[in-house]
Amino acid sequence: MMKIKNNYIRWKRVGTLLTVLGIYGTISLSSCKPGPGFDVDHQLNYCLGQLSKSVSQLPDSGKIPRNILPGQKEWNYVGYRDWCSGFWPGILWYAYDYTRDRKWLQTADRYSRLLFPLADRSPEGHDLGFELYCSLGNGYRLTDSTDYKAVLLRAADSLATLYNSKVGTILSWPHKVKGTDWPLRHNTIMDNMMNLELLFWASKNGGAKRLYDIAVSHALKTMKNQFRPDYSSYHVVLYDTATGEKVKAITHQGYADNSMWARGQAWAIYGYTMTYRETKDPQFLDFARKVTDVYLKRLPEDLIPYWDFDDPSIPDAPRDASAAAITASALLELSGYVMDKTVAEKYYDKAVAMLKELSSVRYQSRNVNNAFLLHSTGNMPEGSEINASIIYADYYYMEALIRLHKLQNKENLL
Ligand code: GLY
Repeated sequence: MMKIKNNYIRWKRVGTLLTVLGIYGTISLSSCKPGPGFDVDHQLNYCLGQLSKSVSQLPDSGKIPRNILPGQKEWNYVGYRDWCSGFWPGILWYAYDYTRDRKWLQTADRYSRLLFPLADRSPEGHDLGFELYCSLGNGYRLTDSTDYKAVLLRAADSLATLYNSKVGTILSWPHKVKGTDWPLRHNTIMDNMMNLELLFWASKNGGAKRLYDIAVSHALKTMKNQFRPDYSSYHVVLYDTATGEKVKAITHQGYADNSMWARGQAWAIYGYTMTYRETKDPQFLDFARKVTDVYLKRLPEDLIPYWDFDDPSIPDAPRDASAAAITASALLELSGYVMDKTVAEKYYDKAVAMLKELSSVRYQSRNVNNAFLLHSTGNMPEGSEINASIIYADYYYMEALIRLHKLQNKENLL
């Protein structure tokens, strides 16, 4: 049976205590600032309004919203095996997190349960973390459901089967990748950093200690092999499966092997911030700052990146609102870990400014469609989901708004 946790009061007390002790001093300092002209509750209520419209139009089947393409009004749906299947239940869990209204819990639970079989199939890739941690991970945080916990622990063990100890990283895509001529080698993609969170969680919640070690090894190897001297990231590194040696660094979803693909860099910012949270190893905090700084330095004035920072057609290239949402959410967390007050405030202020721009008429969907945001780019080289509403942009936008709301109310961020 699912038990509803009332964390609200508890976290408020914890937050106050930490503030008094100075442990989250930076977060508390920043959270005193309202964010100029930005009403976070208004934006969260906008999200709830859009979500209500989407829920009222859902097909009565196992179909999960993924995108709304330019010119379309309705969601395009996918099944539970799609890599984006966890974001929709995750959004519903955030709606419950914010409102504590059981109607959201019931819908979130229904969609979360659709994903249970993923834990017991042979893993189709590193996306198991996106699929199950964004959905059941949030569900478990909010309800303590033993059903969710059991599925998450099995999923973490399943993800770990993709680990190659010679290489020291997880095999991100075990299948032949459509449209590529790569030999079938061990590949690791930047996105994979996000899915270490499932392993860290499992190692703290009854899973094997080995899961923690795998996550740390993956983060260290990726740090060594998947960045240029300016800390911009390569999307993909190919390794020799047998010897573990790096073969080459290339792109799959970016403009070129040497370009900075916006969402890849956003995954790096979020991934290393999360890895620092889970390990408290200062080298990860230092690295999170470095990968953040190159991204911030190269952003256009409105803080929403073009889909790839090096596309020569800029300023006519499409934007990627999803990268901005992922980064805003990560920066709110990172601002709480950085001891230098000036830098911490810079990260916090940038996050609020990104959210402000995403919440403007230029980026919110409003009456155009029922998503929260317009103008994300999924896979430009494949010509798919360009300038579209995409479910993961909405997920990280809502996550960032909830994080900001919690910081402003002196609650624990997570
Ligand atoms: N593979 C996830 C992404 O498109 O970012």
